[in-house]
Amino acid sequence: MTSTNDIRRGFLDYFGREGHTIVPSAPLVPQNDPTLMFVNAGMVPFKNVFIGQETRPYSMAVSSQKCVRAGGKHNDLDNVGYTARHHTFFEMLGNFSFGDYFKERAILLAWELLTREWGLPADRLTATVYHTDDQAFDLWKKIAGLPDERIIRIPTKDNFWAMGPDGPCGPCSEIFYDHGEHIPGGPPGSPDEDGDRFVEIWNLVFMQNVQADDVIVGDLPKPQIDTGMGLERVAAVLQGVHDNYDTDTFKALIAASGELTRTDTSGANQASHRVIADHLRAAGFLIADGVLPAAEGRGYVLRRIMRRAMRHAQLLGAAEPLMYRLVPSLTAEMGAAWPELVRAQPLIEETLKLEETRFRQTLANGLKLLDEATVGMTVGETLPGATAFKLYDTYGFPYDLTEDALRAAGLGVDRIGFDAAMAEQKAAAKAAWKGSGAKASEEVWFDIAEELGPTEFTGYLGHNGDGQVVALVKDGARVATARAGDKVTILTNQSPFYGESGGQIGDTGKITSDKGLLAEVEETSKPLGKLHGHHAMIGAGEIAVGDTVHLSVDAARRSKVRANHSATHLLHAALRHRLGTHVTQKGSLVAPDYFRFDFSYPKPLTREEIETVEADVNRYIRENEPVGIRLMSIDDAMEAGAMALFGEKYGDEVRVLSMGHEGDAPYSVELCGGTHVSALGDIQLFKITSESAVAAGVRRIEALTGEAARQWFVQREDRLKEAAASLKASPEEVPARVAALVEERRRLERELAEAKKALALGGGGKADAAAPEQIGGHGFIGQVLDGMDPKQLRGLIDEAKGRVGSGVVALVAVNDGRATVAVGVTDDLAGSLNAVDLVRKAVEAVGGQGGGGRPDMAQGGGPDGSKAAAALNAVRAALATEPQTA
Ligand code: ALA
Repeated sequence: MTSTNDIRRGFLDYFGREGHTIVPSAPLVPQNDPTLMFVNAGMVPFKNVFIGQETRPYSMAVSSQKCVRAGGKHNDLDNVGYTARHHTFFEMLGNFSFGDYFKERAILLAWELLTREWGLPADRLTATVYHTDDQAFDLWKKIAGLPDERIIRIPTKDNFWAMGPDGPCGPCSEIFYDHGEHIPGGPPGSPDEDGDRFVEIWNLVFMQNVQADDVIVGDLPKPQIDTGMGLERVAAVLQGVHDNYDTDTFKALIAASGELTRTDTSGANQASHRVIADHLRAAGFLIADGVLPAAEGRGYVLRRIMRRAMRHAQLLGAAEPLMYRLVPSLTAEMGAAWPELVRAQPLIEETLKLEETRFRQTLANGLKLLDEATVGMTVGETLPGATAFKLYDTYGFPYDLTEDALRAAGLGVDRIGFDAAMAEQKAAAKAAWKGSGAKASEEVWFDIAEELGPTEFTGYLGHNGDGQVVALVKDGARVATARAGDKVTILTNQSPFYGESGGQIGDTGKITSDKGLLAEVEETSKPLGKLHGHHAMIGAGEIAVGDTVHLSVDAARRSKVRANHSATHLLHAALRHRLGTHVTQKGSLVAPDYFRFDFSYPKPLTREEIETVEADVNRYIRENEPVGIRLMSIDDAMEAGAMALFGEKYGDEVRVLSMGHEGDAPYSVELCGGTHVSALGDIQLFKITSESAVAAGVRRIEALTGEAARQWFVQREDRLKEAAASLKASPEEVPARVAALVEERRRLERELAEAKKALALGGGGKADAAAPEQIGGHGFIGQVLDGMDPKQLRGLIDEAKGRVGSGVVALVAVNDGRATVAVGVTDDLAGSLNAVDLVRKAVEAVGGQGGGGRPDMAQGGGPDGSKAAAALNAVRAALATEPQTA
């Protein structure tokens, strides 16, 4: 038997030998088509090549493309488990010619692979062609030698394939395999074609036209080839089974779920085991490609798939969560071909375990309600929509799960009633929101969010992506279009732009379109916490609601933001490790050029503490461990030691980031919705540039990472070099030289003070020292001393007292505009003159108040040094009017 893995490999190798480039599968989340939820055909990643918007270095390609058909237009979810060939996840094998070969070689290559390489008997194969495609008819005849009755002309759209209402299209030719007479059904185009005997295995599309609004409007410049073959279907054919679920991969997965649940895998249990096997693949591949369960969008489709499987696990009587225990079987079967499964295995297991643990708690209650609600209902009746809504709203039962649960009993669900109940709840939510006093200016966002749902953020994985414009807001009101010169907020169904939240600044970048739009996004906000508002200036072209636009984030800026954000987590952890776990985050700002981090701590950090914290963070950066990202319930996250910001609102499920290790435990664990480096080494370098107080008990650290940190060191070094140059020393000598200079300066200051003192007192050998004045019968020496150290005044007064013999001495030192006044009275006058009274008068003159000391020596000061002479005059005046006692 040929294994599914060998068939995939054989297909790729065959076309590789025929000159095709083997192109790896694109991720399941489309990179280039905003209207698609998931990649659902092999040609999707090549869409822009087909329409000539993109060129590749090859003109022939082959791939095995991961596809999911659940949610959106192609939704096979409801059928999976109950049919032989429906899947949510499947692989599409395809070969592509971008203007190289066309019909003849496409048919030849397909025929040779099927009949020569794989040895399928020609008489089991039937081809269809579009009814007017005589050329394809003739080629099948010539190349395959098929008789006329097995080249069936089909006049319907079944044989005219189009990517969508707009774009490339063309007639196609399908190859059918006849599983044999024992299975009911007729060939394609016959009245009983819906039977299962003839199964389409391969579709060859001859892309040659372009259509607009479903009408052909022209020819492609070069005809092209797009083919698609379901790997699971062809595996069934090559393994001689009729049912995809009987192929090797599915048999192994189903055997594992049979074993773990100790149940028979056939009979009444068959559908449940098939659902579990199929949904395990879809969930595993979606999680590996970055989709995580969520309340909206792709994450919600994943949740529906997971919960549907989990309900079937419960139907099988599984007492414990089942899905996560099947992941090893999935990686054993498919991990060799899809290494992303192996890489993501822990995440897949954890996500499934969490979802199933939580879902089981509500499932029992919900099913009880469902049982009660359906008592007495008979086949063909429908469950009221309001009940289905209650199950959805209260028990987390997705609509299709309720439908699936009732299916076995032949009951339906009132979809219209369900939608009406949903609409009613939304209206009530709006009324409550309005009643809560929310700002009127926010109403526009509320309406948009209610009507269109949240923006799906695609920027954890990349910087670019397409989106559909769902709303435009200009001057606070919704508009349908905007043009060059307008400042608008652009809302798209999905966006890689991060909207400012959690301290992380929003992204900037560009939005462009085929219509020549160029909008510069200056800021991205996150109104209501769910919309990503791109605040943009339209530089050229036009934009209208409904347009497909290309969003491209300024990647260099984002990468700096990422490094800074991850560094805040490491810093937070380092502070708690070094200063104590009472340290908690009080706020942060993560910008591209720096970040700041506020935390509770009662006193300034010492230099050693700052250096240790810095060294810790840099050590984790050098260790370069990958950053762990998981979804957890809020309770589990707290139990795991995650640090949450007090006062922040978190959903039931939280994104938990872990960084580094200390022993067995992660060094940092935080709840965070921000964007981060994938490995800590990407931060490169960390430097604290300041530590200060912001409020009582709250400190702030500002820091740099990466190139900005390096620049900081360069600037510091430049300054050091400048200083060294002025000192005519080497940088190493600078500290010793500066210390010597400071010491030298101190000595010089001392000497200068001595010299000034000598000068002030007329000493220093000068013969013309001022003779004491005579005022009111007393000797008086008064002097203003510019730049004199006030501490010297006392000593100077004593010396001057010696010179005046009997009388008063007043000295005013002026420093930086301030005046310090000292007055001395010789002992013989102690009974009649009081130095304190005199100094107060002088102090008043320099704009001060008071002054104090003893009757023989007093001191004071005032702010106005320019009035120093007036201060001396005030003393003179006091002496002149002094009543004579002698
Ligand atoms: N694009 C073609 C299909 O999906 C091959 O059927």
